[in-house]
Amino acid sequence: MESNLKDEVDVEPYYDHPRGFTLYQGNSLELLEDLPDERFDMIFADPPYFLSNDGVTCENGEMVSVNKGRWDRSEGIEANHTFNERWLDAAQDLLKPNASLWVSGTQHIIYSLGFALQTLDYKILNDIAWFKVNPPPNLSCRYFTHGTETLIWAAKNHDAKHTFNYEKMKEMNGGKQMKNLWNIMSPRKAEKKHGKHPTQKPMKLLNRIVLAASDPGDLILDPFCGSSTTGLAAVKNGRRYIGIDQSEEYLDLSIKRFEDLNEELDSQPELEMDQTGT
Ligand SMILES: C[S@@+](CC[C@H](N)C(=O)[O-])C[C@H]1O[C@@H](n2cnc3c(N)ncnc32)[C@H](O)[C@@H]1O
Repeated sequence: MESNLKDEVDVEPYYDHPRGFTLYQGNSLELLEDLPDERFDMIFADPPYFLSNDGVTCENGEMVSVNKGRWDRSEGIEANHTFNERWLDAAQDLLKPNASLWVSGTQHIIYSLGFALQTLDYKILNDIAWFKVNPPPNLSCRYFTHGTETLIWAAKNHDAKHTFNYEKMKEMNGGKQMKNLWNIMSPRKAEKKHGKHPTQKPMKLLNRIVLAASDPGDLILDPFCGSSTTGLAAVKNGRRYIGIDQSEEYLDLSIKRFEDLNEELDSQPELEMDQTGT
């Protein structure tokens, strides 16, 4: 029987709910070192893409700054790579022997992440092209429209027998083997009703990831949790979740989102584990 992970961590949770939704506030580079080894069945990470360097983008037809916050400012490619190596190294120790890790990124960091995963001897299982279906236009007209992000899925190492719910994915894909090209729209308005996180991921994306690579009761970690889309997908599908973010504002948004879901699940328990991936 596993001991309670929270009893083994020196830091008090920022929020902890018996449905299996726990948040810590702090710098993941430090906090990941404090968590006990080999306790997580899956990690999903949506780290800083380090793209907030005073460029512009298009939002609702308007030209706006691309900056997301100080946490997303690049200090140069070497510093970005050192950051990626540090957290991926610490995360690898936290994974159970057969567990896997997902990480998302754009061209700004995805090559660094891929190289770090390979040098740390993770086993890369897939790269998923997430196509956002209706991305904003490119205002400069000097590049193709940026319409995708990449997700790398990797097992802890080359000996790991990773979980892949193949049949579930096939069923969600109308009975056909699911490909590594995923058409999923950016988060809907309803997903932002408690406030906006500048890089919030869609529920549909995280539902698919959780259902593909974990089982009910599993423990999932998100070291850059933002508004905790991963946590909502975990709880909705009967998994347990630990999220870390350095920002109180984003953790408070996570709590609002979770409490809303919790109420929904209390009043309509059939929603939990509906496993439709919506
Ligand atoms: C790309 S966002 C994650 C968004 C999230 N997937 C969602 O759906 O809301 C990255 C998050 O990492 C947090 N962050 C950045 N650097 C961090 C660090 N060193 N330790 C902990 N959190 C960090 C930021 O505050 C931000 O909320």
